[in-house]
Amino acid sequence: MSGHGEATPMKSRKCGALTGVAEVPGDKSISHRALILGALAVGETGITGLLEGDDVLDTARAMRAFGADVIEHGGGEWSVFGVGVGGFAEPDDVIDCGNSGTGVRLIMGAMATSPITATFTGDASLRSRPMGRITGPAGLFGAQAYGRIGGRLPMTIVGAVDPVPVRYEMEVPSAQVKSAVLLAGLNAPGQTVVIEHEATRDHTERMLAGFGADISIEETEASRVITLTGQPELQAQDIVVPRDPSSAAFPVCAALIVEGSDILVPGIGLNPTRNGLFTTLREMGADLTYENERIEGGEPVADLRVRYSPDMVGITVPPERAASMIDEYPILSVVAANATGATVMRGVKELRVKECDRIDAMARGLQANGVMIEESEDMLTVTGQGTGSVKGGGMCKTHLDHRIAMSFMVLGMASQQPVSIDDGAPITTSFPIFVPLMTKLGARLERSN
Ligand code: S3P
Repeated sequence: MSGHGEATPMKSRKCGALTGVAEVPGDKSISHRALILGALAVGETGITGLLEGDDVLDTARAMRAFGADVIEHGGGEWSVFGVGVGGFAEPDDVIDCGNSGTGVRLIMGAMATSPITATFTGDASLRSRPMGRITGPAGLFGAQAYGRIGGRLPMTIVGAVDPVPVRYEMEVPSAQVKSAVLLAGLNAPGQTVVIEHEATRDHTERMLAGFGADISIEETEASRVITLTGQPELQAQDIVVPRDPSSAAFPVCAALIVEGSDILVPGIGLNPTRNGLFTTLREMGADLTYENERIEGGEPVADLRVRYSPDMVGITVPPERAASMIDEYPILSVVAANATGATVMRGVKELRVKECDRIDAMARGLQANGVMIEESEDMLTVTGQGTGSVKGGGMCKTHLDHRIAMSFMVLGMASQQPVSIDDGAPITTSFPIFVPLMTKLGARLERSN
């Protein structure tokens, strides 16, 4: 339940070389899914490496409210005793998903085909985000939704008593929507089909197969067609959560722009639906190599070796890569400010409906620190003049958005003057050890009051 506490203003100063090993926490997307599918399985699902950030802890609490037994053993080890597909109990209070769009959207999908009613809310950021993209397909299954104008939380979902399976063609490239439809399809009889025209992260499909669901994926030039047979008995699994590439992005990008840096970021998930940032950085000329590539817990993983890269150049990021790096544009724009030339990011309008309007938040904060930007509804262009060229000295608003907060903290590490943010508290939603981890590498971060 993030975003309910006091604001934490912070400052990041220019620092010396970042060195050492950055052990980033578990993947947020996979952590949510492990808890939710564990809650829908029969038996004990053991989870290792769960991200213990506020977003995921809110999902753990929600799964308890729907009747699952969720036990924390410490050190990222958790057990979930599931209620089985169709076994969700009706929560006796409002479900507060804090800051988490993934949490609320996946859980809404998972309960939409059970004969129960649940009311969802969240922090000010989550209450401003559109839920129509979930309630639309949920309605096709037979669920009803009552929310605020614009499909906003708080919102009550009345689950379908006699759900029907659905054939759903995705309107926006969103793994949250795809996953919500698949989770709803679990408790509908027959086959639920999702058609996506742009591949989005596929952790739900992989994990459903791991839990024993009958799921098939047909890939053509134009689409991915996912077919799920409803009402399976999901078999509890042991899940090892890989470290989060979206969290790794922050130390990786910091090392690229801070003079003399050389760091190792071990065990990072490199699922091709998630690794667009690393591809982009290498195209810009980043000294970023994959070492010890392997498969762990069904996901491709490698150790990332990153060295200071003063010769990076701006590029045009292809719009078809957007889904595989959708959470990484804020930190990419910080690297772009330290590269030479224009980095053009097109096809990014989904950034406007994340934890905040990320195009606007990055554009305003970069401008406040002397960086040249250009924006439109669907595009952000950042023009840099090389590493160390950013003036800094600006104050940036983070709008309850963890990735905006961390991006500006990284900007300050390589800017001439310190960079300030009005609130670093949201960082705990996804990367609770960000400040100690970055400080250990050599960053100079401080609370400003
Ligand atoms: C996520 C999907 C993405 C991403 C979010 C996590 C997921 O959102 O931005 O941080 O775990 O499914 P969209 O589905 O809205 O693109």
